[in-house]
Amino acid sequence: MTLRPAISFAKFAAPKKGVAVVLAAEGDGLSDAAKACDPAGILPRAFEVSEFKAKFAGAVDLIAPEGSPLDRIVAVGVGKASALGEACWWRLGGSIAAQIKKGKDVSIVAELPGVTVGPAEVASIAGGILLRNYSFDTYKTKKEDANGAAPDKPARITILCANPSAAKKAFAETQGTVDGVILARDLVNEPANILGPVEFAAKASELKELGVSVEVLTEKEMRKLGMGALLGVAQGSVRPPRLVVMQWNGGKPKDKPVAFIGKGVVFDTGGISIKQAAGMEDMKGDMGGAAAVTGLMHVLAARKAKANVVGIIGCVENMPDGNAQRPGDIVTSMSGQTIEVINTDAEGRLVLADALWYCNDRFQPKFMIDLATLTGAIMVALGNAYAGLFSNNDELSERLTAAGQVTQERLWRMPMGAEYDKMIDTKNADMKNTGGRHGGSISAAQFLQRFVKETPWAHLDIAGTAISSPATEINQSWASGFGVRLLDRLVRDHYED
Ligand code: BES
Ligand code: MN
Ligand code: ZN
Repeated sequence: MTLRPAISFAKFAAPKKGVAVVLAAEGDGLSDAAKACDPAGILPRAFEVSEFKAKFAGAVDLIAPEGSPLDRIVAVGVGKASALGEACWWRLGGSIAAQIKKGKDVSIVAELPGVTVGPAEVASIAGGILLRNYSFDTYKTKKEDANGAAPDKPARITILCANPSAAKKAFAETQGTVDGVILARDLVNEPANILGPVEFAAKASELKELGVSVEVLTEKEMRKLGMGALLGVAQGSVRPPRLVVMQWNGGKPKDKPVAFIGKGVVFDTGGISIKQAAGMEDMKGDMGGAAAVTGLMHVLAARKAKANVVGIIGCVENMPDGNAQRPGDIVTSMSGQTIEVINTDAEGRLVLADALWYCNDRFQPKFMIDLATLTGAIMVALGNAYAGLFSNNDELSERLTAAGQVTQERLWRMPMGAEYDKMIDTKNADMKNTGGRHGGSISAAQFLQRFVKETPWAHLDIAGTAISSPATEINQSWASGFGVRLLDRLVRDHYED
């Protein structure tokens, strides 16, 4: 939604106007190109005076001296240059974006002494700038800032680097990643009066433009399939549910697909087991899993991933109503298994039960990964630095965890087992939808596992990481877009021809 800065790439030539951003490495200082932006040599003294040690994301921001064609010279620290991993370049881009402020013409000198800043690194810096720059301001009719100043025009940014044409090419792919993350953030930030199940399905349908095939199942079709668990949640809302099936077939025709399934509760009041008022507005983000799956499909299609991928999202609204389901109701899921609904606020697992079963049944995927803002309990366990990972498969878990380390969307594996599974047994039906307060995230995962048979499966509980997590170098928004880069990385590293 935010206006985005225009980013271009060029060979190094000392910038002649605006803001020059240079990189400083801990110990090694500035590159020759950086020094060329500062012929008067004001940076070394500024570093000394401000005790700037070039720690990662630290910065010195100077007004250019008399006689310089520049407005400002900004040095941004990278820490020890040799220790910069992939995630660091994105974060560095975010730190640079934070320093640009009102700069209109910005030149970034992507050079470091003793370290090659290659095209991939340059593209990541650019990606970090764009993600940092995102803000959800669709509904702000007055755009001036707190001081009454006119809105920042998106900056014109030129990244000065060794191989501009290679950087431009790498950035084309990064741009697709950024668009997917921003799509996910926009969907999550959008209020529920605007984004209901039907509207969500329409947004997902726009992926057709990128060559994704999209089917939207209506209530009637879901009833025919026997999706009593999902439909039980939806029945309290005047807005009908939708199940969206997205397919990107970039792999070999006979190759089994990999599958991603998202919880898309556009608003979760709790239903008849209604939530308290304080903080309930956050439940507009209870579709963070579905948003991540949609964003991921965008990324994969934009870069024409050589993989067959299915994305399925269950879009419903959980409302209290004369027709809402009650605690004690027993519903029959598509699998045939019956569920006693003890608490109508444990609705996400009911939606996913049918979405997972449908996915497995129709596609026999290589694996299924579901993403859901499923439980408050995961925040009690892990806070918001890690998402919970639950799985029946060690290899898939290890690959996911490793991908999360690279993209800094970190996962922590949680235990599962028979002790937890029996918590959802009930005398009235095959299972109940809550297992009590203790280990609440785990019994929720056990519930899901009853709908995946032997298929390798992982469940990511992103309640603590998709919404309302602390601001980072690359995200200042309430919605983080958690999961999009993580799963793109997983597919890229292990599941492409
Ligand atoms: N959507 C919520 C979980 C949630 C809470 C996500 C806060 C993000 C922030 C989920 O549907 C829910 O209500 N879970 C209940 C389950 C309980 C009734 C067993 C919970 O966590 O309290
Ligand atoms: Mn709920
Ligand atoms: Zn929910």
